[in-house]
Parts: sequence; C-alpha cells; structure tokens
Amino acid sequence: METDAEQIRSEFESELLRTANSQALKDLRNRYLSRKNGRLSLALRGLSKLPAAKRPHAGQALNQARQRIETLLAERQQDLETHESSQQQSGDPLDLTLPGRRLLIGQAHPLTQVRHQVESVFRELGYRIETGPEIETDFHNFEALNMPEGHPARDLQDTFFTEGGYLLRTHTSPVQVRTMMSRKPPIRMVAIGRVFRRDSDISHSPMFHQVEGLAVDERVTFADLKGTIAAFCQRVFSPDTKIRLRPSYFPFVEPGAEFDISCALCSGSGCPTCKRSGWIEMGGAGMVHPAVFRAVGYDPGTVSGFAFGLGIDRIAMLKLGINDIRLLFENDLRFLRQFPQ
Ligand code: DAH
Repeated sequence: METDAEQIRSEFESELLRTANSQALKDLRNRYLSRKNGRLSLALRGLSKLPAAKRPHAGQALNQARQRIETLLAERQQDLETHESSQQQSGDPLDLTLPGRRLLIGQAHPLTQVRHQVESVFRELGYRIETGPEIETDFHNFEALNMPEGHPARDLQDTFFTEGGYLLRTHTSPVQVRTMMSRKPPIRMVAIGRVFRRDSDISHSPMFHQVEGLAVDERVTFADLKGTIAAFCQRVFSPDTKIRLRPSYFPFVEPGAEFDISCALCSGSGCPTCKRSGWIEMGGAGMVHPAVFRAVGYDPGTVSGFAFGLGIDRIAMLKLGINDIRLLFENDLRFLRQFPQ
C-alpha cells in the first residue's frame, strides 16, 4: 500500500504538469479525488482488504498523498488563472503609444447655418419664431390670404395636393394666418420652413425654404417695412447693402412690392450673378391686405401691418456663391465641407 500511495502521487504529479487549462485541471482532480471512483478514494476503500497490522501505516501514507495532491492542485489552479487572465489581455493588446483616433467634427448644413443667422437677426429685432404645418389646408394657404377659390393667383403656385383636401404649403405665408388667429396684436413674428411647388430646374427645387415675416400693431407703416427689410439685409449680407422696392402684386398685401438688394458680388457695378443690373431680386413684401385681417378676425380699421417673404435657399446661394440650387439638397459631403461654420 505504501508504494501505492507513492505511485499515485508521482503519476498525479506528472499528469499535473500536462494540464494546460482550468478545465483539464478539474478533470484531473475528479480522476484522483472524486469520492465515488477517484483513484485515492478507491485506494482508501481497498485498505479494508489489508491485514489489520498494515492498515494504519498504509492509511497514513494515502492521507499524506491526498494532502499533497490537494496542495498541488490549488497551486496549479492559481497559476493557470493568472496565466489565463494575462492571455485574455494580450489577445487585445493595448498600445499606449498609439496616437488617438481623430474625431470627425460635424457641422451644420449651409442652409441650417443661414437659417440660424436669419433667426438670430430677427430675434434681435424683437421678433418671435413661429412654426406651422407643412401639410396645410386650403383656407390657410389660399383662402385667408385673399385668394378665394378660382382666384387666378392660385395658378402661379403650382400646388401639390394631398388627400382629403389638404395640400403641401406653397409658401410660409399661412403661418401669418395661424399666428394672427391664435394671438392678438401686437405681433412680430418670423417663420422659416420648407415649402413645396411643382417646379424643378437649376434655380427651382420642388422643395425649398422661405422665411416669412409679419408685424401687426397700431400705426405700422410702409416706412417700418422698408427699415426692417434694410436692417435685415444689412445684417445678413453686409452693412453697406442697399435695398430697393419695386411696386408689385401679391393678393395678401396692398400696396405690394418686390425688394432687391445691391449685388453682394459686384457691389452694384454689374456682374453675371446680377445679370449686369447691380441688383438681385430677394422677395415680396407689402402692407397686410384688409381682407386678410378680416379673415383672421382683426379689425383693419384699428390695426395695420406689414409682411414679407423671401427664399432662404436664395440667401444661401448668394452667400456661398453657387448658382445651382440642387447642390443644397444633394448632401454631397465634398460640397458641404466647403462651407464650415
Ligand atoms: N408668399 C409669397 C411667395 O411665396 C412671398 C410673399 C410676398 C410673402 C409678399 C409676403 C408678402 O409676406 O407680403 O411668393
């Protein structure tokens, strides 16, 4: 029996050296120490077959072997764990000397930049930013703006109609109507947003952006309109920008006007962008028509107001020096990156 204990221990030790991982170590432990059929347990049970005189000695030898095996198992277990965890780390080596990955910093789309600038100019002038739905009713887009059913001006705006009598707003002017219907004067508001018309070429996109302004109070005059447009254009373009107003017709204003700015590229001396005229057409404006005031429940006898509308995309094109509106909507990064904030 003594040799038995010796043999078991030395076989165990040589097997132990070959255990490569925790699982193999677990199997080894079972093979030697499992209560049911581990080699040591079996040997201990075999003691009963020995002559009584030899039993204590053999038993002692087996118990010592067991202790030794247990100690070796614990040590090996420790070694394997340390080894395995360092291996896990070296599988994903961390090179602290590598330069960091450069973060790509995004930027606002040029149209968004212009939009923010326009909003901040009007906020400075005391205007409130309003919004309205892109899917509008006939009433807000046409009827309340003095374009009743059958009015020829409706044809000027090639409208996209949706289901149920709704339409995609053809301009931002319906936001005037919504604002006046929900608030009482005095009002100073601007609305910026998408508008839609069936039109597409180098200078027209079926979806484009407008800014609409409205001021209503007692004794608002055409001079206020002119001063506001000038202040706005000078802040958005340059302080020496000149403006001019030309008589024009829009059903929702009377008198109505179109306004131009002195060409930002040639400062008025004439270039291809301004078609050699020195002026660039910007938008429409005028004094709010009494019929519009009546439609929203205001008394045209006590309040007056001015309104104006112009294209945001046009402002962006002038500021960026591009002549194809479609570039603004293609989202080609090579184009967009040329206009950092
Ligand atoms: N809504 C007009 C358009 O889209 C632009 C416009 C003209 C707006 C005159 C106005 C205005 O507020 O007074 O063509």
